[in-house]
Amino acid sequence: MSTIATSSGESSNSGLSLIAAHSHITGLGLDDHLQPKESAQGMVGQLKARKAAGVILKMVQQGKIAGRAVLMAGPPSTGKTAIAMGLSQSLGSDVPFTSIAGSEIYSNELSKTEALTQAFRKSIGIKIKEETELIEGEVVEIQIDRSLTGGHKQGKLTIKTTDMETIYELGNKMIEGLTKEKVLAGDVISINKSSGKITKLGKSFARARDYDAMGPDTKFVQCPEGELQKRKEVVHTVSLHEIDVINSRQQGFLALFSGDTGEIRSEVRDQINTKVAEWKEEGKAEIVPGVLFIDEVHMLDIECFSFINRALEDDFAPIVIMATNRGVSQTRGTNYKSPHGLPMDLLDRVIIIHTQPYSGDEIRTILSIRASEEEVELSGDALALLTKIGQETSLRYAANLISVSQQIALKRRSNEVDLADVKRAYSLFYDADRSCKYLEEYSAQMINDQGQVTFGTDGDKMETD
Ligand SMILES: Nc1ncnc2c1ncn2[C@@H]1O[C@H](COP(=O)(O)OP(=O)(O)OP(=O)(O)O)[C@@H](O)[C@H]1O
Ligand SMILES: [Mg+2]
Repeated sequence: MSTIATSSGESSNSGLSLIAAHSHITGLGLDDHLQPKESAQGMVGQLKARKAAGVILKMVQQGKIAGRAVLMAGPPSTGKTAIAMGLSQSLGSDVPFTSIAGSEIYSNELSKTEALTQAFRKSIGIKIKEETELIEGEVVEIQIDRSLTGGHKQGKLTIKTTDMETIYELGNKMIEGLTKEKVLAGDVISINKSSGKITKLGKSFARARDYDAMGPDTKFVQCPEGELQKRKEVVHTVSLHEIDVINSRQQGFLALFSGDTGEIRSEVRDQINTKVAEWKEEGKAEIVPGVLFIDEVHMLDIECFSFINRALEDDFAPIVIMATNRGVSQTRGTNYKSPHGLPMDLLDRVIIIHTQPYSGDEIRTILSIRASEEEVELSGDALALLTKIGQETSLRYAANLISVSQQIALKRRSNEVDLADVKRAYSLFYDADRSCKYLEEYSAQMINDQGQVTFGTDGDKMETD
C-alpha cells in the first residue's frame, strides 16, 4: 500500500433522539475548577465519583496520557454508566469516545480479540494536517443552463475577491453541490479544489443592505482579499479504525456506514501504524488518545482481560474506562474468584472509582429530572411515593414506574400523575424483591434447574422435557 487514505469523502450524521435511560445527562455537571455541582447538566450527587471523572476528563483533554485504565465499581443503578455518558458529552467531538458492553464482543462474525482491537482503534484519533488548495470568494452570479432533456447540466460561476473576479465553468457535480448548499449571489464560499466540497462561510457584508428577510443565524463575513486561489492548512480527525477500514481493500469506506467491517488483516494495520508513526515524526499528524468505555466488564473472559493488559501498553492506546457491579466473583473462563471478577494482574493496573447508593433527596431530584425528560407531570405526593419506592427497591425500578404511571393516569384522562396512579403501577409491576418473594412462594409451580415442575396442587412432580 503506497498511499494511505484518511478520508472517505463522505460524512454521515444520523440524529436519533429517543428518550433513553441517560438522555437527561448532558455532561458531568462540573464548574470551571472541575468541582462537581450538586445538580447540574442532569447529574445529581455522587460527588466524589464525578470529581474523579473530572480528573480523568482533564487528563484526556490534555491528550498527553494514554494507556491508563479506570474501573468504576459500585452497586447497580448508582450512576456508573451515567457518569461515563456524562464524560463522553464533555469531551467534545474531536476526542473519540467509544462505548461497548462486555457482551458485545461475543459475535459470530468477529473473534473476541478482533472485536476488542476494533474497539481500541476506534478510540484513537489521528489529527491530520493537510495542505489543500481552496477557491475562496464572494459569489457574484451563478448561471445554470439546463439542457432540454434535463440530464446534462452546464453553468458558470462568477466569483470575486476585493482584488479580482473570475468566471469558472461548472460541471454536474459542482452544480449539485451549489444547489445542495443553497448558494446564492452574495454568499462567501470556499471550494476545496481536490474534493470539490463547497462550504458556505456566510453572507458578504457588502450586500447586507440587499437582504430584508434574514434568519437570526445569518452570518456576515468580509469579502476575501487577494487571490481567489489559496493554499490552506486544513485539519481533520479520523479514528485509527476508520483509516483501517478505508484502506482495507475488501471492505472500502462503504463498510464504515453499514458497520459491517469484518476482520481486518493484521498487515493492513501494521502498515497503517508505520505510516501514522511517520506522519507523526514529520509533524503531519497528531495522535489523540480517546476513551474506550467497556460497560459490564465482568462479561469479558480471561482471554479478553489478558488482551487488554497487552493493549494498554501499545503505542496507540486510549484511556480505558470499565464499569462493573460485581463484588468478589468468578472471572469468566477460570475457576477462581477475584474482586469485581477482574483478574489480579489487570486490577493491579487500574485506578478504581467507587459509586455509592443515593440518599432520599438525591433520588427525588433524579426522579424529577427523569419525569421532566419524559415529559411527565408528577404531583407532589406521586413524587414522594416514587422516591420512597426508589429508596426501598431501586432507583431504576422507580424511574421505570414513571412512564407506566403516566399511562395509567392518561387512562383516567388526567395529564398529571397522582399518588393513586403510582400505587396502581406499583401493584401491577413487580420489583426484583417482590418478584423473589413470589418465586419462593410458588417455587414448586415453576420449572427448576432439573426441568421439574409441579402441575396442580397434589404435589406430583413431572418432567417437562
Ligand atoms: N448521579 C446521577 N444523576 C442523574 N441521573 C442518574 C445518576 N445516577 C444514575 N442516574 C440515572 O439512573 C439510572 C441508573 O443509573 P446507571 O444506569 O448509570 O446505573 P449503573 O451504575 O450503570 O448500574 P448497573 O450496575 O446496573 O449497570 C439511569 O437512568 C441514570 O441515567
Ligand atoms: Mg450500567
